[in-house]
Amino acid sequence: MNPTIKLLNSHRSIRKFTEQKIPRELFEELICAGQSAATSNHVQAYSVIHVINPENRMKIAELAGGQTYIAESSDFLVFCADMKRSTEAAGRAGAEVVRGMAEQLVVASVDTALMAQNVAIAAESEGLGLCYIGGIRNNPAEVSEILHLPEHVYPVFGMCLGYPDQNPEVKPRLPVETILKEDYYQDEQDEAQVAGFDKTMNKYYLERTGGGKDTNWSEQLKPLFTSKLRPHMKAFLQEKGFKMQ
Ligand SMILES: Cc1cc2nc3c(=O)[nH]c(=O)nc-3n(C[C@H](O)[C@H](O)[C@H](O)COP(=O)(O)O)c2cc1C
Repeated sequence: MNPTIKLLNSHRSIRKFTEQKIPRELFEELICAGQSAATSNHVQAYSVIHVINPENRMKIAELAGGQTYIAESSDFLVFCADMKRSTEAAGRAGAEVVRGMAEQLVVASVDTALMAQNVAIAAESEGLGLCYIGGIRNNPAEVSEILHLPEHVYPVFGMCLGYPDQNPEVKPRLPVETILKEDYYQDEQDEAQVAGFDKTMNKYYLERTGGGKDTNWSEQLKPLFTSKLRPHMKAFLQEKGFKMQ
């Protein structure tokens, strides 16, 4: 297997970091590697906030549901979908700009995720660990206020970066035949394959917790879909100018 694919397959989220700081030069390399990701129509619809202020990191850790590694990692980033810069540029160039289209939200969110994942891979290639933080969307308005995010910019997720102080196992993924469909969408095998994957995940959780966590993939999904997940997001996005027209 080539070393890049090997690196990708060895990913696992890191939630405990040593006190070692990422050198500034390396940090900048990671961000620039992020910028090399493909971007829809070259829009580059993202801004990354490097949250340095320790008090703000503590506040965001609390707002994200008490995720202490936000304050403890070497660096904490908030990846923002940004339609402000590009729509303003188009406006200055003479376009009659229409803002708030649903498609703009998709473009900006996708661009942001691709950019972030490039940062993640670059970081892992340097022996660093990372954890994405979707928890910032628990309180997106408060996080936006701390970061002074203007209209047409919204915080998609955070990312903790640092040197790992733990070595968790790689978490299994669904069988490739479940997610790779040939020619058209087929789901006849999904139920059986998910049942098989539940067994795999049950084994993973039991082993990882010394028998303490007797659960599986489907069980873990329940809280996501049995109650409304972050129901404030629609109003928040509309407030930020992503009106989804
Ligand atoms: C967009 C996104 C948001 C996430 N948010 C959180 C989070 O708030 N807290 C956390 O501990 N992990 C978070 N994760 C990490 C996932 O839980 C993790 O990637 C998943 O369980 C698979 O595990 P692995 O990364 O170790 O392979 C997030 C991952 C993604 C992609």
